[in-house]
Amino acid sequence: MLYDLIMPIPERLNPTFANSGVPVAVPPERIEEARRRLIVALDAPSAAAALDLVNRIERQCQWFKVGLELFTSAGPAVLEPLIARGHSVFLDLKLHDIPNTVAGAVRSAAALGARMLTLHALGGPAMLAAARAALEGLPDPPELLAVTVLTSMDSEQLQAVGVERSPAEQAQLLVHMGLAAGIRGFVCSPREAGSLRALTGPAGVLVVPGIRPAGGQVNDQKRIATPADAIKAGASYLVVGRPITQAPDPAEAAAAILRQMATAIEPEP
Ligand code: C5P
Repeated sequence: MLYDLIMPIPERLNPTFANSGVPVAVPPERIEEARRRLIVALDAPSAAAALDLVNRIERQCQWFKVGLELFTSAGPAVLEPLIARGHSVFLDLKLHDIPNTVAGAVRSAAALGARMLTLHALGGPAMLAAARAALEGLPDPPELLAVTVLTSMDSEQLQAVGVERSPAEQAQLLVHMGLAAGIRGFVCSPREAGSLRALTGPAGVLVVPGIRPAGGQVNDQKRIATPADAIKAGASYLVVGRPITQAPDPAEAAAAILRQMATAIEPEP
C-alpha cells in the first residue's frame, strides 16, 4: 500500500507524529498530490549514474529533471528510458540565445518528449514569444518555464552583472515581461513564490528550486526554503537535487520530503 511505501518503519509504528512533533499521518491522496509536484534533479555525470539513481527512487518519484550536466554527457537519448518507464521529464537547458535559435531548440526539445523546458527570461520578450510560437499547433506541448533569477544569485551577484534591483524586484519585472509574452510558467526562488503567485494568479506554473529540508546542507543555494514553506508560498512544483541525490538513502530522503510537502498541501474543498 502507498502509505507503507512512504512511511519509514518507526513512523509506521507511531504514525501520528514524527520526531519533530509534526503530524505526519497525512492522507495517501495528499502524498500522491505531493508526488505529482516533486521533481528530482538528476544532476549526474553519466546516464548510468542517473539511471542508477532513478532505480533507487522511482517508487517515490515520478518527475525527473535532466539538466546541463547530464544532457551534455549523455545526450538526448537519456530521456528515452525515463519516458519508457512512464516518468515525466523536465528538460532544464535554460535556453538563452537569439529568438530563431531558441525556437529551433524548443521544437527539438518538444520532439524528445520533454514535459517541461526552461529558457532564461533574460533572453527578452522577443525570445520568449518565439519560443512560445514554436510550440503552436503541437498536440501536447511541453510547459515553457522562464527562469527568473537563479536561486544562487543574491543582491551582490546581481549587482556584479549590472542589476541594481533586489532579486525579488528583478523576478517581478521578469514575470511581468514573461506574462506579456504569453508565458505562464516560471522558475523562481521559494522566497519570491508568494509575490510572483500574486502576479500570475492560479493559472501560473511556479517551479521552485532552492529547497532544503530544515537543518539540511545549504550548498551553493542562497534563497532557500523548506519543502512545506515552499508549498505554502504557492509553488506548483518543487525541484530537489542534492538533498535527495546525495542522501545516504535517497528513497527515504525523497519519502521524507513528500511527507513534508503533503503536510502543507491544502485538502480539496
Ligand atoms: O541540488 P539542488 O537541490 O540545489 O539542485 C537544484 C536544481 O535546480 C539544480 O539542478 C539547478 O540547476 C536547478 N535550478 C536552480 N535554480 C534555478 C533554476 C534551476 O537551482 N533558478
